[in-house]
Amino acid sequence: MAKWSGIVAVVSLTVFLMSVTAATVLPIHPYLKVEDTFISQLYDTSNYGFLQIDNGLARTPQMGWSTWNFFACNINETVIKETADALISTGLASLGYTYVNIDDCWSRSTRNLKGEMIPDPKTFPSGIKALADYVHSKGLKLGVYSDAGIFTCQVRPGSLFQEKNDAELWASWGVDYLKYDNCYNLGLPPQKRYPPMRDALNDTGRTIFYALCEWGIDDPAKWAGKIGNSWRTTDDINDTWISMTTIADINNKWASYAGPGGWNDPDMLEVGNGGMNYHEYKGHFSVWALMKAPLIIGCDVRNITADTLKILSNKEVIAVDQDPLGVQGRRVYASGPDGCQQVWAGPLSRNRFAMVLWNRCSKAATITANWSAIGLEPSISVSMRDLWKHEVVSENTVGSFSARVNAHGCEMYILTPRRATRSSI
Ligand SMILES: *[C@@H]1O[C@H](CO)[C@@H](O)[C@H](O)[C@H]1NC(C)=O
Ligand SMILES: *[C@@H]1O[C@H](CO)[C@@H](O)[C@H](O)[C@H]1NC(C)=O
Ligand SMILES: *[C@@H]1O[C@H](CO)[C@@H](O)[C@H](O)[C@H]1NC(C)=O
Ligand SMILES: *[C@@H]1O[C@H](CO)[C@@H](O)[C@H](O)[C@H]1NC(C)=O
Ligand SMILES: *[C@@H]1O[C@H](CO)[C@@H](O)[C@H](O)[C@H]1NC(C)=O
Repeated sequence: MAKWSGIVAVVSLTVFLMSVTAATVLPIHPYLKVEDTFISQLYDTSNYGFLQIDNGLARTPQMGWSTWNFFACNINETVIKETADALISTGLASLGYTYVNIDDCWSRSTRNLKGEMIPDPKTFPSGIKALADYVHSKGLKLGVYSDAGIFTCQVRPGSLFQEKNDAELWASWGVDYLKYDNCYNLGLPPQKRYPPMRDALNDTGRTIFYALCEWGIDDPAKWAGKIGNSWRTTDDINDTWISMTTIADINNKWASYAGPGGWNDPDMLEVGNGGMNYHEYKGHFSVWALMKAPLIIGCDVRNITADTLKILSNKEVIAVDQDPLGVQGRRVYASGPDGCQQVWAGPLSRNRFAMVLWNRCSKAATITANWSAIGLEPSISVSMRDLWKHEVVSENTVGSFSARVNAHGCEMYILTPRRATRSSI
């Protein structure tokens, strides 16, 4: 058994190494054999790695923090430095949350006489370069924001037709990440407005993460893979249960297009902002991780509660998001009133699966995941590790697994088959 799993590990690692060096490779997973129609439909990866941008970034979904969800326009260099410090002192940075992203409102509302964007002198008197230096000195990375239109959504200068100069300026400041929004776009198609910034960023010679924020309007999953490292699939999230669940469902439709190099982005995390309860935030975080979503914290990290920190720093859930196989998990089964008792699952490296039992009903419920629904042979014996209890809850589960789940809550597991199946060697 031990010897056998060693062979599997070596094979999976080889496959992974092949997939990070080549531009487009289908994931090879014993449960994703092409000839197995049911499995390949269930976890359709036919568009996996489809024309991903090749700038070396986003081998796994990006992680960090952004100003927008909590602070909106009420930002300044102090709050960003204090947040960088807090990411370190809370331990979140060492778990992978390394991008410190300034969203809209960092720029003055007009360009200078040379046509350059300038940081708002009232709120960023030391400039963005000084902030980047500070963030870098902490081992973190700095992100800025602009817009593929003539203005940003908060009516600061946009970068449409000014891509080259703006990209050069940001690169000269040491910027590592760009979120590129979609306001005031003159009605021009996004397929025309987003590539020039990709090329401008590339021409700077600085490696800059390119996050498209086109709101999912023109189905960016279908074309953005060759343009950016992630693309928003939906309208903005807000701090409500209805918004979060609606967005999860939309993002789920595009699962087959995610892969190393380019990810579907269901928008930043609201965990800790107060509009949802502990169970709801736990589900938000678990499902985002299962969907290989960017994990961009959106709360005030300087004033984080123990419960919020417990959710955001769950290493085992983060590891699902960052799994090197990079296949987006998805909803595989729903039952109960309006299908509110849901099973979400996805394949992981080393022949494992991740699974979330998500109770979207308003009452506690027992949710059952039948092996056939998640793509396992009924006779397979599985070891179940509970990622919120941090323990193996069953060494030998066959056929199906059931758990009681709180109203609007979830449970999350890693399933490790105890013997190989589907002729994996
Ligand atoms: C900076 O922004 C924070 C968060 O909005 C605010 O609490 C603080 O007063 C601001 N500081 C200055 C100097 O404007
Ligand atoms: C620019 O693009 C080329 C081709 O896709 C890529 O190999 C290179 O790493 C990119 N450079 C930067 C700085 O992003
Ligand atoms: C929050 O999102 C929901 C669902 O998308 C939407 O109906 C609602 O209007 C939004 N609320 C706010 C305050 O934007
Ligand atoms: C810190 O968070 C608590 C709620 O968790 C809130 O009541 C308090 O106002 C916050 N403090 C600051 C300085 O934002
Ligand atoms: C699982 O589903 C299959 C097919 O729908 C069904 O035949 C079987 O009885 C189910 N098994 C369990 C343990 O619920």
